[in-house]
Amino acid sequence: MLIINPKRINESIEVRPDWYNYYAGYSHTFTQSIITSCKLNNDSVILDPWNGGGTTTLMASIEGIRSIGIDLNPAMKVIAMAKQSTVEDIESIRQKIKKIRSNIKVEHVKNDPLTIWLDDESALLIRKIEKVILCGRYYNNTQEKVDSLQPYQCLMYTALFNTVRQFLKPFIPSNPTWIKRPKSADKKLTLYWPELRSLYVSNLSKMFNSIDMVRHDRKCPLAQINIGSSTNLQLGTESVDLVLTSPPYCTRIDYGVATMPELSIIATNGKSEIKHIRRSLMGTTTVPKSIDTIPSNLGKECQTFLRNVYKHPSKASQTYYFKNLLQYFKSLQLSLEQIYRVIKPNGRFICVVQDSYYKDVHCNLPKIIGQMSQNHGFIIEDVVEFESRQNMANLNQKSKLYRAKNTAYETVIVFKKD
Ligand SMILES: C[S@@+](CC[C@H](N)C(=O)[O-])C[C@H]1O[C@@H](n2cnc3c(N)ncnc32)[C@H](O)[C@@H]1O
Repeated sequence: MLIINPKRINESIEVRPDWYNYYAGYSHTFTQSIITSCKLNNDSVILDPWNGGGTTTLMASIEGIRSIGIDLNPAMKVIAMAKQSTVEDIESIRQKIKKIRSNIKVEHVKNDPLTIWLDDESALLIRKIEKVILCGRYYNNTQEKVDSLQPYQCLMYTALFNTVRQFLKPFIPSNPTWIKRPKSADKKLTLYWPELRSLYVSNLSKMFNSIDMVRHDRKCPLAQINIGSSTNLQLGTESVDLVLTSPPYCTRIDYGVATMPELSIIATNGKSEIKHIRRSLMGTTTVPKSIDTIPSNLGKECQTFLRNVYKHPSKASQTYYFKNLLQYFKSLQLSLEQIYRVIKPNGRFICVVQDSYYKDVHCNLPKIIGQMSQNHGFIIEDVVEFESRQNMANLNQKSKLYRAKNTAYETVIVFKKD
């Protein structure tokens, strides 16, 4: 199997470049080359249990292969679903655009999370566009709302996410996983309807330009995208031919904060719901209250890493960081168990992982995943390492104080189920 560098900077094909730039995504070229070299057939199913921006599900649909994408973050389902839209959706969207007018009546949303950055009237302007996307329907449950959306509505939401992000630029630092809040109420942004509408429509038009790549049969959608957890896959045993994925980074990246603007638009129950989503994601910066011991099924490499974190002299290593990392590895272990269960015999599990550091302690995530997966019964077929200078570990400036070297490795591991 030909394995090329999965980093987005090495992209040689531009698939829907203006759709959504997900910092955690891997490249379309890499995904396509893996899918084609696995020589799947019309009955095959590909799974990505950490589907993120939906690179796997998009490229599977382009190749005409059925796929299932799962992510716990509802905003990621919207983005991945948007990428499933086709040229036929353009007309529905054009009709909707005509309805986006300033005189749409909307009620103030109680505790609207958009008012973290926008003044009340500006948040209301975003809700006017949302009302058109939702055809005037009202939902009080996020999952119900997201699950009801057609790909064209998801495309319209994704353009709204991008538009809001463009306005929020003053609050977005160079670290793409963080977003600042205004220091005081008078620093909140004021949006103007003509400017907002025209930027939104222009973002939609850019997306139309690259929409023609997915060929699919709407009667039998090629990709099924679900909100769900990798630790509890709602899929039949031995039902999947290929798992192609990259797990959440082990660098305390808060995927919830990283998608705060998107969640603020899509979540129906405001800030408290967003907080709940943040806490439920793997890699969250929160920690469980109870103190826990290291289970033996995490494998030797993982146990050693966790013990070294526990023993580390720096502040909060034993309390906060140990517990936080233990929680991450327990979820990872459960997820790998589920992946093993759902793959058919002889099926492959291809995983893109990056190593990182906790202070000066090396976290060899590829080795950890290798051992955990072997414990479940997977056989390692191939391991290919790519040096990665632009990595998530490097984004944390403070950790450089401890680090011997600041090059991380992006590793592609190919497993086979016997
Ligand atoms: C590294 S990203 C995947 C990026 C994806 N390969 C792409 O190209 O866009 C990891 C994803 O895992 C998701 N995630 C975190 N915890 C999860 C869980 N328990 N179950 C499912 N998805 C989860 C995050 O929301 C994030 O989108």
